[in-house]
Amino acid sequence: MIETVKEEEIQKQYEYMEKIKDFGFSKKYFIDTMGCKLNENDSEKIAGMLEQMGYTEIDKMEDADIVVLNTCSIRENAEEKVFGKLGELKRQKEEKGAIICFAGCMSQEEHVVERIKKSYPYVDILFGTHNIYKFPEMLYDKLLGQKKVFDVWNIDGEVWEGLPIKREDTKSASVTIMNGCNNFCSYCIVPYTRGRERSRKPEDILDEIRNLAKDGYREIMLLGQNVNSYHGRENYNFANLLYDIDMIEGIDIVRFMSPHPKDFKDDVIEAIANCKSVCKVIHLPLQSGSTKVLRDMNRGYTKEEYLSLVQKIRDKVPDVTFTTDIIVGFPGETEEDFEDTLDVVKKVGFEQIYMFIYSVRKGTRAEKMENHIPEEIKSERFQRLKVLADNLIEEENKKYLGTIQKILVEGESKTNAEVLTGRTRTGKIVHFEGSKALIGSEVEVKIISEHVWYLKGKLVE
Ligand code: SAH
Ligand code: SF4
Ligand code: F3S
Repeated sequence: MIETVKEEEIQKQYEYMEKIKDFGFSKKYFIDTMGCKLNENDSEKIAGMLEQMGYTEIDKMEDADIVVLNTCSIRENAEEKVFGKLGELKRQKEEKGAIICFAGCMSQEEHVVERIKKSYPYVDILFGTHNIYKFPEMLYDKLLGQKKVFDVWNIDGEVWEGLPIKREDTKSASVTIMNGCNNFCSYCIVPYTRGRERSRKPEDILDEIRNLAKDGYREIMLLGQNVNSYHGRENYNFANLLYDIDMIEGIDIVRFMSPHPKDFKDDVIEAIANCKSVCKVIHLPLQSGSTKVLRDMNRGYTKEEYLSLVQKIRDKVPDVTFTTDIIVGFPGETEEDFEDTLDVVKKVGFEQIYMFIYSVRKGTRAEKMENHIPEEIKSERFQRLKVLADNLIEEENKKYLGTIQKILVEGESKTNAEVLTGRTRTGKIVHFEGSKALIGSEVEVKIISEHVWYLKGKLVE
């Protein structure tokens, strides 16, 4: 059974937060969050602690007294960018004496920690993904003059509850239901950076969601690397959790990511079909359509099993749609293997595809495989997949033209403040003109045109 960090330990962190609150120096913070929604949720927790300690958030990294880089290791280019950012922070350290914190998945990689120790000596605090709750203590030690506070290992850790959180949004909230991953897909660094799988207790998750509902949240995103292996206690799995959340008044939309196709059991399919609030868009990571590549990736399913799972879900959940993740150019991927991927994409007709070029990760099994694919073939395949995906999505989008869709209004569009943005129940992004007062409510919008990655609509008065 997974242990929850003891209440006394959390209490101790609150005491550190109180002490730091009393310090009278300038307290402006900036968090740079990279990577996935789990990291975003972790950043909300780091922000919650900083606010509790009397810090305020600012938009400009250059003006901050404390900077936290919450990093991601998933692909190589993400990592290189972080070292670039660290380089930029050197001046800020020298001129302003800012405290530089390095957190997230990269800090769980030994070679990264070595490189930081060697080349970036001005990093003050380095902590991992499993011990975020100790941040107040680490900061306190640093403020009291300790030269450096590095604490990363013991990655398998526990789960912890009860620390403050500062949420980015007022209507839609992410709730991490489990940490870590036991799957060891051969290309993936996550099992090394996030440790073994550990589920939070159902009552802690449900309490958090009930409180969110009380605070006016209407949409919940459940997060975990493999949500359908959630195991809260004896005889309590992901399907049980969905049913229990569905009973919570005020929560209209429940999304989750990511489920793993190999663990997608019938009880979860039934729960999706039966729970009114559960969104009927399922993110079902494919990775490759070739059975041979899937085996080498250690994914635990074949092309045919994936396709029959999609069919099974379609049979039981009316109007269900799918989104997916695909990696092109995995070691040993032949033209034929790649065509299998294109074939699955055509057969399923995904709403959205997140496409990635395979990137070698140190210490993974795939790193040592033979037949790494040359860069130019990888990018040529990526382009071909993108063209196919764009065409299919355009086709799919045409089905929406003229229909009236229920949209939960999320906010202003990033590129045009005059335009509101939200999502259909099937997860399609819709842009339309309307008053900002509508943000947070559900409206009806008629779809008037399609633009591959979003639809344009008009409010139904
Ligand atoms: N747990 C999730 C995925 C988390 S990582 C799942 O199993 O679906 C998000 C996505 O990044 C993965 O689905 C995969 O498509 C991609 N990814 C992971 N490692 C990668 C690598 N080494 N190179 C390229 N893409 C990768
Ligand atoms: Fe990585 Fe696979 Fe775990 Fe997803 S399921 S996090 S791809 S190892
Ligand atoms: Fe990146 Fe870590 Fe998420 S490696 S994708 S931030 S789990």
